[in-house]
Amino acid sequence: MIEAVRIPVTAKMRLGWDDDNLTAPDLARVLEQAGVAAIFVHGRTRAQGFSGRVNLAGIRAVVEAVKTIPVIGNGDVTTPEAARHMLDETGCAGVSIGRGAFYDPWIFRRTDHYLRTGELLPEPTFEERIRVMSRHFERYAEFYGEEHGARLFRKVAPWYAKRFGPSKPFKQRIITITSRADYAAAVADYVAWRKQFVDENGELLPRFRQEPMVASFMRPAGEADALERDAIPVPKGPVDVW
Ligand SMILES: Cc1cc2nc3c(=O)[nH]c(=O)nc-3n(C[C@H](O)[C@H](O)[C@H](O)COP(=O)(O)O)c2cc1C
Repeated sequence: MIEAVRIPVTAKMRLGWDDDNLTAPDLARVLEQAGVAAIFVHGRTRAQGFSGRVNLAGIRAVVEAVKTIPVIGNGDVTTPEAARHMLDETGCAGVSIGRGAFYDPWIFRRTDHYLRTGELLPEPTFEERIRVMSRHFERYAEFYGEEHGARLFRKVAPWYAKRFGPSKPFKQRIITITSRADYAAAVADYVAWRKQFVDENGELLPRFRQEPMVASFMRPAGEADALERDAIPVPKGPVDVW
């Protein structure tokens, strides 16, 4: 592929199949020799699925395996502090953010600001989250057409709702929408329902406030082990028949 195209070719990988088969450093070394321009590595194994602790030492092993190309760390960067921590602990040249951007599309601006200045900007308000979610919905409706866009948005809205505070009725209702009118009504009813949980300034009452998100690799080891047990089971190796 590198010979066939004029643009840089990059590669993305996990750390390996499971903890006993961490193949990413070898793969990265070979890919660098083949001429890839950068490596992206998700710091989990196939066996971990999408949960459990991201292995920063594993990402560091990939950084150390290559000679000159940049390695971009990935996995569970859900806060600006998590990005800083991954950069510091692994020596990676950058981080890439997946699900963190679904929960919080503002994460890039907040992370960029934090890395440059050390200042943590506040999380967006509920009104801002609703404003951007509605814009996102409208883009879906324009791009996919109203009904198909509305159906597809059933998957997107719950990611935003994860940071709304109490939101069960919204999550139940939004997965039934088929039109702009359905979306607008679901949001309006939810905003009215949510008022019981907020004070006169529109802030969630203390007992309904959410803790900031914490990346798996910034939690105490015991807590991350509990996440690990919930991981989706997958078949064991052997690596040579992946
Ligand atoms: C809905 C969804 C779709 C994804 N699609 C891709 C994909 O097409 N290619 C890819 O390399 N990784 C894909 N991934 C994996 C992510 O790029 C990323 O490696 C993984 O989610 C871990 O990073 P995160 O914890 O920041 O999400 C996907 C992940 C999710 C949740």
